Amino acid sequence: MDSVSTSSAPAASAQPVDAATMPQSPPEIRREDYRPPAWLVEEVALDFALDAAATHVSARLKVRRNPAGDGANEIRLNGDGIAALAVMVDGQPGNDWRMDGADLIVALPGDAHEVGVETQINPAANSQLMGLYASGGMLCTQCEAEGFRRITFFPDRPDVLSTYRVRMTGDKVLYPVLLSNGNCVAQGENADGTHWAEWHDPWPKPSYLFALVAGDLVANRDTFTTMSGRTVDLAIWVRAGDLERTDHAMRSLRHSMQWDEETFGREYDLDLFNIVAVSDFNMGAMENKGLNVFNTRYVLADPETATDADYDAIEGVIGHEYFHNWSGNRVTCRDWFQLSLKEGFTVLRDQLFSQAMGSESVKRIEDVRVLRSAQFPEDSGPLAHPIRPDAYREISNFYTATIYNKGAEVIRMMRTMAGPEAFRKGSDLYFTRHDGEAATCEDFVKAMEDGTGLDLGQFRLWYSQAGTPRVEARLEHDGDTAVLHLAQTVPATPGQPDKQPMPIPLKLALFDRDSGTHGGEQLVVLDKAADTFHFPGFARLPALSLNRGFSAPVAIERTVAEDELVFLAAHDDDPFARYEAMQSLTVQYLTANGGQGGSDASREAIGTALAAILDDSALDDLMRGELMMLPGEAYLAEQMAVADPGAIHSAREGLKAWLGRTLEQRLTALHARASAVPYSLDAAARGARKLKTQALVLLAAGVSERAAELAAAQYRAADNMTDRQGALMVLAGLDTPARAELLADFKARYDGNALVIDKWFSLQAGSLHRQALEHVKALAQHSDFTLHNPNRVRALYMAFAGNPQAFHARDGEGYRMIADLILALDPINAQTAARFVPPLGRWRRIEPVRSALMRGELERIAATPGLSRDTAEQVGRSLG
Ligand code: TRP
Ligand code: ZN
Repeated sequence: MDSVSTSSAPAASAQPVDAATMPQSPPEIRREDYRPPAWLVEEVALDFALDAAATHVSARLKVRRNPAGDGANEIRLNGDGIAALAVMVDGQPGNDWRMDGADLIVALPGDAHEVGVETQINPAANSQLMGLYASGGMLCTQCEAEGFRRITFFPDRPDVLSTYRVRMTGDKVLYPVLLSNGNCVAQGENADGTHWAEWHDPWPKPSYLFALVAGDLVANRDTFTTMSGRTVDLAIWVRAGDLERTDHAMRSLRHSMQWDEETFGREYDLDLFNIVAVSDFNMGAMENKGLNVFNTRYVLADPETATDADYDAIEGVIGHEYFHNWSGNRVTCRDWFQLSLKEGFTVLRDQLFSQAMGSESVKRIEDVRVLRSAQFPEDSGPLAHPIRPDAYREISNFYTATIYNKGAEVIRMMRTMAGPEAFRKGSDLYFTRHDGEAATCEDFVKAMEDGTGLDLGQFRLWYSQAGTPRVEARLEHDGDTAVLHLAQTVPATPGQPDKQPMPIPLKLALFDRDSGTHGGEQLVVLDKAADTFHFPGFARLPALSLNRGFSAPVAIERTVAEDELVFLAAHDDDPFARYEAMQSLTVQYLTANGGQGGSDASREAIGTALAAILDDSALDDLMRGELMMLPGEAYLAEQMAVADPGAIHSAREGLKAWLGRTLEQRLTALHARASAVPYSLDAAARGARKLKTQALVLLAAGVSERAAELAAAQYRAADNMTDRQGALMVLAGLDTPARAELLADFKARYDGNALVIDKWFSLQAGSLHRQALEHVKALAQHSDFTLHNPNRVRALYMAFAGNPQAFHARDGEGYRMIADLILALDPINAQTAARFVPPLGRWRRIEPVRSALMRGELERIAATPGLSRDTAEQVGRSLG
């Protein structure tokens, strides 16, 4: 049988190794082409002779014919940029093998064999940070999604689950610590200055969860006693100088383990849990079984170098990776189209965890803000895809806000409709039914259906249809009845011109305007194109609080009278709805007249509502800080058919300036009150810090000299990074002598601390300063800038791409800089380079002059020979 047809779609790859000969349009892989693997790998034995420039890898695979496979007499072992030095079958040097593009095909006549393969790799030269690579002096791996094939030849697809035995030998001085998945079962020393360790992971896992770390590391150690009384040894491994900054991560880990037992009934399943912090990392962190590998930015924190937001992010990511042990590892994905099965569910789990650890409502508001500023634009642009995509060319491009964040919202809707108890029955059933399996999104929905009793037939459309549903809402009064008319449309997205109505669960409350109260929250499910709901018992038209808690990830379209929004902003007892009322008031004003801004009376209404929020003594400061934030420019642009980024920016800055002037007394008084609160990590002190910086942001726009004084004073008095960074952020946007002085102070104070120097780059690249674009150009030449460290690249250029005034410079210079970056970075780190394409891809929704400039840059990239599969796919889709 033809070898290509024996491989499953997700694993199929016949790409030439040489990037220069790579076609500009790499082949499309389709979900409908999934086939079970022809061969299963039961056991894997890996032997690594570690060396930074030449690591020798010897792999032995115990393979068995899959009864559910197609009966092929050969096995396809994926490779990427590696060569087979030797191939053995059943211990004999084999001749019956060949290369098919980058893959190795080995003939196997029987039903069970042992396949041996020798490869040699160069971690020091691996700038893509996929597979085995060097970071600082250490060696580490990143295998998700398809990095294992850069280490050895293997059926590198998530539905092939094996137990792993890993032996590694390395220099005792360079690599005193040798780690892999599972438990260390043996170790010893050799006479030649090397030592070795052998690790065994008893849990069958796909190759993407394999990990190895070798380096000079120290550990923060602790233990956790599980619900069944087992003791688990915990260790967080970092460089010697970083040990003092690991306590928050350790606390977060213990909290995660406890919370998952209490909330989802999930217990940890090994005697050891290791976390390693690495400075060069493509993403946030990775859930490798028993050996999570983290970007240092999601591990290291102390008050001097990490902000409150950093503390929260660490807690969330530690939780996220830990929760993957069940949602991802014990139950994994059948193929990469099911990525949201583990990522959407795990994001929901980490969101609920963070909600439980801190302020539930503030966390919910933050998560909605991320969804609206990152996922909504994705869903309305050329890269829109369902949470379960139908096709991809490079899977790394699908680690998106849609798969992660919308995926979490979709599962959250099931939880809202079922209630938490029934939802828990559904998740228990899912975990027990599919433990040890590679499952699908359909398996998850079916388990939820069986466990909760909900009928999720129509709900499955949330998995297959892309696009953010628009819900038109109209409230009428008929006799003593309030009548709510709802209508939905799901917009067309690439490849999906026609959509069906989806079930949209909307929590709502109807407020009696005289008493300021409502008769209880209700849940309505809009499952038709249009429907009407009747609420008797209202002598007067009530105020409508709709989509409370953001119960559905939709855009509500409703023209609401200003007085109704002012009422809700002051009285709504749902904190999210209160925030939403304040946001709507501002969105309506800022998007009026094509983004030029609304009437003075509307502005006055915003000022009055905000003043009431500043004065409201019943509000906690964390929540007050949220209510003071204006909607972001990306979200505002989403509200318009065609956006003029320049007009949006000036309208928004204009409103900030007016608020800063109008509320100057209140804001300075709040700043003074908050400045008197001593540093601690409790909610009140964090709230005070948030308030200080939010107050400065508004004051800086309106009374810049006063703000500059306050910010410089805040910077100088700061005993923590939240205050220091907040003050410097404000100063970086102003033309004041303190700007240069304090930026230099910050740089000198934290020189050598890479994570803080990242902040120094970001503050300048993201600043409101009119010369921000020139500053970025200069910073790109700074001796501390490098294209080889993703954190540094993102610190400078993601901050820049997210700075609307600089990125959308009228002459297109910002677009040119991002395109130049993509082209320079693509050969070094394709995965990171491709992540800079989406900002340029928004061209269709932008006014014609800028739109043409953005498109021109995409075309320039597309015309460049030798693009990576990652960048070629994103640019192709963005132009498509
Ligand atoms: N699975 C990781 C997570 O928890 C994501 C991830 C880490 C990743 N590193 C990666 C994805 C490299 C692609 C490539 O979300
Ligand atoms: Zn994840």
